[in-house]
This record gives sequence, structure tokens and C-alpha cells, in this order.
Amino acid sequence: MSDKGKSPRDLFGSKLGVIAAAAGSAVGLGNIWKFPYEAGQNGGGAFLLVYIGFILAIGLPIMISEFVIGRKSRANAAGAFKKLAPGKPWFVVGWMGVGAAFMILAFYGVVAGWTLEYIKEAVTNSFDGKSTLQLTENFTTFMTDPVRPIIWQVIFMLLTGGIILGGVKNGIEKYTKILMPLLLIIIIVMGIKSLSLPGGGDGLKFLFSFQFEKINSSVLIEALGQAFFSLSLGMGAIITYGSYVDGRSNLTRTALQVTFVDTLIAVLAGVAIFPAVFAFGIEPSFGEGLVFVALPSIFEQMSGGYFWGILFFVLLAVAALTSTISLLEVIVAYLSEEFKIKRKTATITGTVIVSFLGALCSLSLGAGSDILIFGQNFFGLLNFTASNVLLPLGGMLIALFLGWQIKRNDTYEELSNGGTIKLRLFRVFLVIIKFIAPIAIAMVFLHEIGLLKLNA
Ligand code: PHE
Repeated sequence: MSDKGKSPRDLFGSKLGVIAAAAGSAVGLGNIWKFPYEAGQNGGGAFLLVYIGFILAIGLPIMISEFVIGRKSRANAAGAFKKLAPGKPWFVVGWMGVGAAFMILAFYGVVAGWTLEYIKEAVTNSFDGKSTLQLTENFTTFMTDPVRPIIWQVIFMLLTGGIILGGVKNGIEKYTKILMPLLLIIIIVMGIKSLSLPGGGDGLKFLFSFQFEKINSSVLIEALGQAFFSLSLGMGAIITYGSYVDGRSNLTRTALQVTFVDTLIAVLAGVAIFPAVFAFGIEPSFGEGLVFVALPSIFEQMSGGYFWGILFFVLLAVAALTSTISLLEVIVAYLSEEFKIKRKTATITGTVIVSFLGALCSLSLGAGSDILIFGQNFFGLLNFTASNVLLPLGGMLIALFLGWQIKRNDTYEELSNGGTIKLRLFRVFLVIIKFIAPIAIAMVFLHEIGLLKLNA
């Protein structure tokens, strides 16, 4: 067993703490902000079905793999590979992950900052009496402002850095255990309200009716990227958290629970948003502003909408915070362990760099929106490159690493906690990480660049 009590590292305090932290990382803007607008832009039901397929066939096994690599090595994203495969170039996978963490935090921090602005809007009752059109204009005016979103973004990054300085396990464990169930409840309430809107049924049809012809290479790559993004996979976040997991936690079960909660919240967010989108005549393909327009449109009409609005945006900000913490922790664990600098110095360095990149992301949506790189603004470029390229590629390499580099027995020992847990599907797991997951990811990439055609 990996945990013999001699590890000097700070471990999570309880099994529930492990789940809360990992679920806190997974559940965030990816579920409530990104999933709905991706589904809206990629054919609704077609996207959802492909997404769930990828979650089960690829995401879950890779999450288990990351937990194994993390707990077995008890090291940061790059150090883990160095420790488990000394002298081999696998640690480059860790570097890619740290790079992805910088990129994701940059644009994620911007959207997280938007949630703070929307808490303020909710508190000052500013959705009241506004039409969907006015709410759309409000959002666009705010998003393209050269100053305000950057201030919120920096505040959010300071909060993240501050919590990291206080130690990972104390903060995250305590709050997520209470706040996550609360988030679930409010999304269900929003879903019920949304479904009762006239015309809302069309939104459900959009989300759940599956049309095979709608699947194209962009649906595939976006759904794959979203599966990785939403589960926090492919860049070492779960490796890093796995390195703090005690020896008694059941890694397979933890991964199953986290995957279940994450998928449930994404689907429920879709159920809360799409009926409103159709009822209020918003374009499903509206993009990054979708939840910031659709939900305030509901609050505006709902009894008690004032309080629901505040509660929703506060919880959304908290969900985002537990994710940015896990992202910054990848950077801080890497910098502090690999360069032997203090965690404090590493945290400050990471926060400053990310805030700067985030400011550029925010500017690229407004004042600098005509500066395009490969046809995309900086925000879009980071979002696409990290989610749709680096994470799936990282995930593929992680699967190959565990499947082919680590000895089968070592993986068995780690997953069974030294033989004390019975593993029923171990063989299936090995076949997936050795062959199925890497080949499926490679096929999506080949399809994307036009070398493979799955349908005419
Ligand atoms: N999974 C998080 C979300 O859905 C984002 C994230 C991605 C966090 C990658 C960590 C690593 O919001």
C-alpha cells in the first residue's frame, strides 16, 4: 500500500473530504456555464449523447488512472511521472498539464469574475423589470468593458491564491461538503421553474432528442474536450489531488461518485437553461453569455426571484472557486516541489502570471476583439487549445502511461489498497486504458483534421 504514514505531505482528512475536494474540482463553470453553451452550439441532444458516451468510456477510466498515478507517486503533476518512470520522458505530460493549468485559469478566472459581478447585480436587484433583450445588452456591455471584468477577475484570483496559502484541505473540505448539495438543490428548483415556462418543453426536446446526422467532427471534438474539462482530467489536477489521498480511500469508488455528481449537475444545468432559452427566444448558439442571460430572465419572472438570483450566483462563484483552487494547486505543487521554492512564493508567482494572462483574455473580448490568432480571440484560443487539444492529448498519454509503463501488479495493488478491495472489472479497465481510450481519442483527432471520416 502506498500510504504507510511516513509521508510528510499534507493529506486530505477523511474519505468524504477526498470526494468533496475532487467533486469540488470537477463541478464548476464547466457544468453550468460551458456545458450548456457547448450543447447549444453543437446540436443539443447529439452533443449530450456523445458527451455521456465519452464520460463513461474515456473519462471515468482516466480519472481512476490519475488517482492511481497521484497516490502511488505522492508527487505533483510532473514529479509523479519522474518518480514512477525515472529517466524516461513521460514527465513532459506533466509539463503539458501545468501549461494547460495556466491557460485554463486565465480564461476561467475571467468567467469566474463575471459571477462576482452578477452577485452584485443580483443584490442590487438589477435584473428586475428587464426584458431578455435588455439583459443580453447588459451582459455584452459588461463583458466588453475594458476595466470592470478585469477587476473582478483579479479579485477572484486573489481569493483563490489566498485559500491555497491557507492550506488545501482545511478550506476545501469544510465548505464543499455543505455548499455542493445546496447548489444541486437550487439547480433543481431552477429546472422546475424553467420547465413551467410557456414553450419551455421545446428546450427539453432540444436537449434530449438525438439526431444522428447532427454528429460531425466539431461535435465530437467539443464533446470530448468538454468531457475532459468537466471532469478536470488530462492535466494533472486529479493526479495532484490524488497525491493527497490517504491509503484507505477506495479510488475506483471515489472516481465513480465524482463522475456521477459531475454529469448529473451538467445535465440538470441543461434542464434549467434550455427551456428558458426557448421560452424567451434566446438563440441556443448564443455562446459564452448563455447562462448570464437565460437565468436572470427566469429570476426576473419568478416569485422570490431576487433571493434565488443571489443564491444562485453565490453558489456558482463558490463552485468556480473550488475549481480554480484545484487548478492553481497544480501550478503551486509543481513549482514548489520541482524548483524547491516555498509554497508561498509559488502561489504568488502563479497568481500574478495567471491574473496577467486573464486580463489579456478579458480584453480580447472587448477592446482587443479584432486581434485574432488562427481566427480566434485570445480567450477563445486558450479555451479551445486547452480544452480540446491539451486535455484529450494529456488524457491519452496518461492512459498509455498507466497501461503500458506501470506494471499491472502495481496498478492492482494501488486500486485494491494492497489487496483489501475486490476488483471485479480490473481486466476491462486495463483493456480500456491500454487500447480503447487512446484509440478513441486518436480517432477523434484524426477525424478533426480530416484524415478519418465516420459519416458522410
Ligand atoms: N472541471 C472544472 C469545471 O468543470 C474545470 C477544471 C478543468 C478544473 C481542469 C480543473 C482542471 O468547472
